[in-house]
Formats: sequence, structure tokens, C-alpha cells
Amino acid sequence: WVQKVRNLGAMTFIDLRDRYGITQIVVEEHSDEATKAAAAKLGRECVVQVTGKVIERESKNAKMATGDIEVVAEKINILNQAVVPPFTIEENSDGGDDLRMKYRYLDLRRPPLQRNMILRHKMAQEIRRFLDGEGFLEIETPYLIKSTPEGARDFVVPSRMNPNEFYALPQSPQTLKQLLMVSGYDRYFQIVRCFRDEDLRADRQPEFTQIDCEMSFVEQEDILEIFERWAKHMFKSVLDIDFTEPFRRMPWSEAMEKYGSDKPDLRFGMEFSDITDLAHGHNFSVFDDAEYVVGFAATGCASYTRKQIDALTDYVKRPQVGAKGLIWIRVEEGGIKSSIDKFFSAEELQAIAERLGAKAGDLCLILCGKKYKALTQLCALRLEVAEQLGLRDPKKFAPLWVVDFPMFEWDEETERFYAKHHPFTSPKPEDIDKLESDPGAVRANAYDFVCNGTEIGGGSIRIHDPKLQSLIFKCLGFTPEQAEAQFGFLINAFRYGAPPHGGLAFGFDRLCSLFGGVDSIRDFIAFPKNNAGRDVMLDGPSPIDQAQLDELYLSLVPFEK
Ligand code: AMO
Repeated sequence: WVQKVRNLGAMTFIDLRDRYGITQIVVEEHSDEATKAAAAKLGRECVVQVTGKVIERESKNAKMATGDIEVVAEKINILNQAVVPPFTIEENSDGGDDLRMKYRYLDLRRPPLQRNMILRHKMAQEIRRFLDGEGFLEIETPYLIKSTPEGARDFVVPSRMNPNEFYALPQSPQTLKQLLMVSGYDRYFQIVRCFRDEDLRADRQPEFTQIDCEMSFVEQEDILEIFERWAKHMFKSVLDIDFTEPFRRMPWSEAMEKYGSDKPDLRFGMEFSDITDLAHGHNFSVFDDAEYVVGFAATGCASYTRKQIDALTDYVKRPQVGAKGLIWIRVEEGGIKSSIDKFFSAEELQAIAERLGAKAGDLCLILCGKKYKALTQLCALRLEVAEQLGLRDPKKFAPLWVVDFPMFEWDEETERFYAKHHPFTSPKPEDIDKLESDPGAVRANAYDFVCNGTEIGGGSIRIHDPKLQSLIFKCLGFTPEQAEAQFGFLINAFRYGAPPHGGLAFGFDRLCSLFGGVDSIRDFIAFPKNNAGRDVMLDGPSPIDQAQLDELYLSLVPFEK
């Protein structure tokens, strides 16, 4: 592909690009007429074949891998002309997001996307190499299946041969990999596409890829051991980063209380402390009326101006964060200042600052309200402050395991418990007796692999005892008939000798974007969807014709946008 043509009168220089880089071609004054005529016809993105002599360049370009040489063209064969591309195909393009998505095949010619595709390929090879070495078998599972219980909406596919019945595309191969354990394939993996109809974000696509794994005759510890070794292997083989220490393990409750998130970003500190006891009882109704008061010391931010603090207040008040206001305490060498010094003495403020671990020069930031709501809001603020302080360095990696997740999550709206992971996750044996009396306190044998504030993977030890499984279904509000209708095939399979088993799945796109140091997983997917779930290049989804609808026994309901 012709990247650029520079016509200097006597000589023409052509930058020729392919997957391997750029090489300079020269057409000289004394080149033959046909070659000069071909060179004159070249425009950006033409596809050409050049025959010539490789020579040492007079003026070398140390910035280019091929900067020491050039090719003196003897013959130029134009394989294909190109119309002017809608944006420049260079390291940094002048094209906006939408345009580049529409012409994705051109965007993919650019070096940054090429590097991403190569990184993804390399990582896939390393994953296979490692898991094969550990005795895992790569087994494919079907895409046209029955609904799986991962908690998002299913994409469904109508069946022509079974009128009015639908397949679901797998949200993950969860139930199938468990069936493979029943079949005796005790170490399974698959790099597999999953489909979830959920709201999209930078780290979510409607179809994405998991590194899906399952093992038999294991406990949680065995899984964490193998996949910690795998993660270290990936860091080493792909990024040449050594992790010699074991990854940190953090109980879910600690992650929530110290960082307000089950996927804490540990590249920096600024941990939270509960100051409810110090905050209550000072005639400050905002605190007195709150269930929980929590804060952290923003390192070195005492110098923040009023305007900067107001901007942080506006940040927490945005609907996406949802706090009502922000309380601050400025800790300086000379003394302490605060937005609440009408209600608290200097000593009392000092005690709060101390609890939050603030040193002179720090700014304490405090939120209050319902416990988990306040914690989640403060998490957003902590990340925003870290962003401003440049602490979210994409070249730094802070991996950890979050463990001891609660088994169930209470939903205020529907007033019932939901499985925090999925209904096949086993409770911690020591918590089983609380299943009926205090389900909210039951912890699961579930774990997440987290790095830099992103959930990269998660899994659990599964239930293999049909009696315990029935009890869990009951806790989740399934009648035996509903459980049978939805998961009968699995419950039935477990009657034929199911080994103890467990596993996990990593988001492959997320792992690639983490390693590539980019926030959006889109950049690591050759043909991604946009935020509205559309493929703007293919223009899908799209209507289908009446004949196709008739064949599927489908009729459309009128709909207004
Ligand atoms: P889970 O639902 O946690 O677990 O998914 C595993 C990992 O998949 C990635 N992920 C996504 N990546 C991109 N776009 C999405 N929409 C998306 N949704 C999830 C995340 C996540 O950590 N069957 C279980 C695993 C198990 O228990 O073995 C499962 O699917 O990185």
C-alpha cells in the first residue's frame, strides 16, 4: 500500500507500507519512462508491486526500521488503484470514532490496531501453550443452546425447524463445561465467544471472548494456584514483567470497605476508613441522619483551590455517581480547615483526619449515606482523584484475587435474593447452616481475578451434591418445577456421578486491553460493535424480509423510536 508519495521533480519517493512496516522506494530521473509514468499515477492506498535494487541510503533515517536502505524501482506494477480514503492511515488518524468504525477494514491497517491484533494473537498462543502444558483439553461447545444463567439478557435465535421455539446464544459455556466434568474431561478450556444483551461500556461488548476453564477434583486453592501461575506466565511471556511475590488475596468485605469496590485499583493507596462513630452526635444532621460516614485522605491535595474542590463536589453529584454533597478537611502544617468546622472542633477534625491516615498536605474527602451506596460513590471519587494525580499508570499492574464473595445479593426492587455469581456456586461449608436462617451472611467459594480496577476473570467451586443444589434453588425462589424446567438437564446429569469441580473464566478482550494499556476493549477486537450494539460497518442489525419472517413463524409488532 502506498502510504505517501513525494514528488521532488527529478526524483519521486514512495513510502510503501505492509504488515511488516514501511520501505522507501525511489524513482530516479533516469528510470525508464514506464516506471516514471506509473509513479506519477500513484495515490494513497494504491496497491503496488515494485521490482528494483535495494541500496544503502545516502541520508539515513534512524527512526525507521528500514531507514538505512531504499529500493531503486526498476518496475512498478499497479495491482490496484484506490479512491481517497476517508481518513489518514497513519499512527494517529484524523478520522473520528464513527468514521473509523464504518471503515474498520481501513482502520485495521493503522499501526496501533495492527499492534493490538498481534498482541491478541500472541496472547492466545501463550494461553494455549500454558494450558496444554498443564494437561487442559480444548473442547468446543455449541453456540445454539438453551438459556444459561449468567444474569444478563439472552440473545435468541428463532428455530425454523421448531416453530415458535428459540435457541439462546450462550452467555458463557457454564453449564456445558460442568457437563464435561460429569463426562470425565477433568481439565477443560476454551477460548470462546460469549453473547450478552446488556448495556455497553468501554469494557463490555455484546459478543466478547472468554478464556473459559473448568477442573475436576479440585478445591478453590488448586484453582487459584494454577491460574495465578498462568497469570504470571502471561505477564512474563508477553510483557516481560516478573511477579515473584504471591498475588494479594482480599476478602470481598475488605475490598468493599477499603476501596468501595469488588474490583479495587491497588496501583495506589488512599484507602477508606469508617468514621461513622466520630461523625455522629455533633448536631450536623447530614452526618447524624446517615447510616454510614466514610472518607479517605487524598494524597497531597491540601493545596486544592476552592474551585478544584467545587469541581470534585460537582463530580460526586453527577447522576452517574449520585452523592448529595462532599465534605472536606484540609490538613496543613499550620492547622486544619474544613467545610464542617461549624460543627466540629479542631481536635475533633484532627481525630477524623488521623483515622483517615491524613498527613500534613492531604485533603480528606468524606461522603455519607447508606453503607454500600456511600462506599460505591466514594470509590468513584477515589478513582477520579487518582486520575487527576496521574496515579492510574497503564504501565503499572496491580493484580489481586478478591475472595469470599457473598453467596446472594438482595434486590430492593423485586425484594428477593439473586445469586451473586450463578446458581451453581457452592457456599462455604462453614456457612451452609445459615442458608435458610440468614442467606445474606452466607459466603461463596467464589473468586475474581482483578487488576488495575477491572474484573478480568471470575469463577467458583460448583455444587455437585443434588440436595444442596435443590436447597440453593429454593433460596433463590425457584420452585422445584421451575428449577427442573430450566436446569433439569444439569440436575439430572449430576445423578450419574458428578465429580467435585470448579473453574473460572477470564475476559480475553479485557486481558488484551489491560496488557495493551488501553481502556477500551474495542481496540482489541477486529470488528467490534458500537455503543448502541450496532455493527456500523455491516449496518447490522437490520430488518429481514417478509418471506424470511414467514418461514420462522414470526410477525413484527409496530414500534415507534
Ligand atoms: P463472568 O460473568 O464473571 O463469569 O464472566 C467472566 C469474565 O468475562 C468478562 N466479561 C466481559 N467482557 C467483555 N464484555 C462483556 N459483556 C463481558 N461480560 C463478562 C469479564 C468477566 O470477569 N461462567 C462464569 C465463569 C465461571 O464461573 O467459571 C462467567 O461467565 O472479564
